Amino acid sequence: MNRSEFLKRMGLGTVAIAAGSSLLTSCMDHGMEGEAPNVLDGVFNNLLKVPQTINATSALSAQVGMETLANGGEVPVLGYGFGLLGPTIRVQKGQNVNLNFTNKLSEHTNIHWHGLVIPAAMDGHPDHRIMPNGSFNFQFRVNQQAGTNWYHPHLHGLTGKQVTEGLAGLFIVESEEEKALNLPSGTYEVPLIIQDKRLNSSGGITYNPTMGEVMTGFLGETILVNGTNKPFLEVSTRFYRFRILNGSTARIYNLVLSNGSDFCVIGSDGSMLPQPESMKNLLLGPGERADVLVDFSGVKLGEMIYLENEEFSGMGEAQGDQAYKILSFNVTGIENDDFILPTTLLPFTKLSGSTKTRPFKITMRMGHNSLGMHQINGKVFDSDRIDEIVNLGSTEIWEFDNTAGDEAHPMHVHGVHFQILSRKGGRNTILPQESGWKDTVLVAPKEKVLVILKFEHKGKFVVHCHNLEHEDDGMMLNFEVI
Ligand code: C2O
Ligand code: CU
Ligand code: CU
Repeated sequence: MNRSEFLKRMGLGTVAIAAGSSLLTSCMDHGMEGEAPNVLDGVFNNLLKVPQTINATSALSAQVGMETLANGGEVPVLGYGFGLLGPTIRVQKGQNVNLNFTNKLSEHTNIHWHGLVIPAAMDGHPDHRIMPNGSFNFQFRVNQQAGTNWYHPHLHGLTGKQVTEGLAGLFIVESEEEKALNLPSGTYEVPLIIQDKRLNSSGGITYNPTMGEVMTGFLGETILVNGTNKPFLEVSTRFYRFRILNGSTARIYNLVLSNGSDFCVIGSDGSMLPQPESMKNLLLGPGERADVLVDFSGVKLGEMIYLENEEFSGMGEAQGDQAYKILSFNVTGIENDDFILPTTLLPFTKLSGSTKTRPFKITMRMGHNSLGMHQINGKVFDSDRIDEIVNLGSTEIWEFDNTAGDEAHPMHVHGVHFQILSRKGGRNTILPQESGWKDTVLVAPKEKVLVILKFEHKGKFVVHCHNLEHEDDGMMLNFEVI
């Protein structure tokens, strides 16, 4: 049944149909047909949890809380609140952030603001260690585009463990220009933090990557959304905005909707795209975000539409060999929204004028057990060594070269946003969802990806693979902006 048949059957007149047809843009002319992939079974009957929202001047602590993740009952987890994960911090562009952070854990931690372009002293470099019972006052001004960012610990060797155990949250920047787009908001704007976990027999989180898993990435068998196992969300027949974060340590998702609808992608890492892009498949590597609109207006009341992972290949041997459901959208309400999808989003200027091309070659070192470990430019992370020196205010091209590799690496740079210039080898293309500002880019086996970046903050930052097993194993370099 197509949209107008649906509207007719719902008794809505020609006026509504005419209004609907005027909205037909590239993001709306999706079919409702399409084959559902061969998904794993499971009943999605847990109400999706949604993190609470806090503002720019709040207190935050890393602490142990209790959460029910599986049938075994409550288990201890880490979070920046009372359960898994942390609150969503929402700030306005231009606002001063003042967050008082306390470490209530029994080990060191810190916070990195992934996607925020802020001074080095506030960025959460691995050198920044906040001891148990210690605290730190994060103060910075947010002066960047509206977008979906996030925060998580960044201690070298502990990042994968602390993120997996629950330390992560969203950091959303809003602006006047974005508000003028009248995007779905309030209950129609829902964050979706997707993470895979390995659970033990009592339902607690286990983080015990083997040497092989450090190599290929640690893939948990249970997929949680906002910390909810087998979640459902009740939706009405209208547009929704979902801010999706792949907060997994290593798992790559190839997201699809089970009814064959498109995602209308309006933003990626920390900023909006120049214009909406219609995508049937949304590939998201660890650390990447996608800001999407989904139109449920053609869906029958009582239907369930699943957010699913579809099988994929070319991202390393361990990735993509299974299809599964992630979240069920249960259509339970009829609503006739008057949202009009804008044809353009926020102004976007292409960066140019690079003065230097800097290679970052992904290489291998052999360990004692003959398992290879990933390095950048033949080096393992050393916090005291400055690997690259960059001039403040300069524009450069960085080349992430995985032509010799057989694993995918989501490469991430602190302290800047970048634009993707080209991808050679492998997929040989820049995906529509990669057309705006990014801070993390998936570099598949055989690929060489060129990004252009402009450095606006002085100090010591890191560039690393956001596969957190790779990162903790040393796939990270320091660069200093002088
Ligand atoms: Cu989200 Cu350096 O990391
Ligand atoms: Cu980051
Ligand atoms: Cu990697």
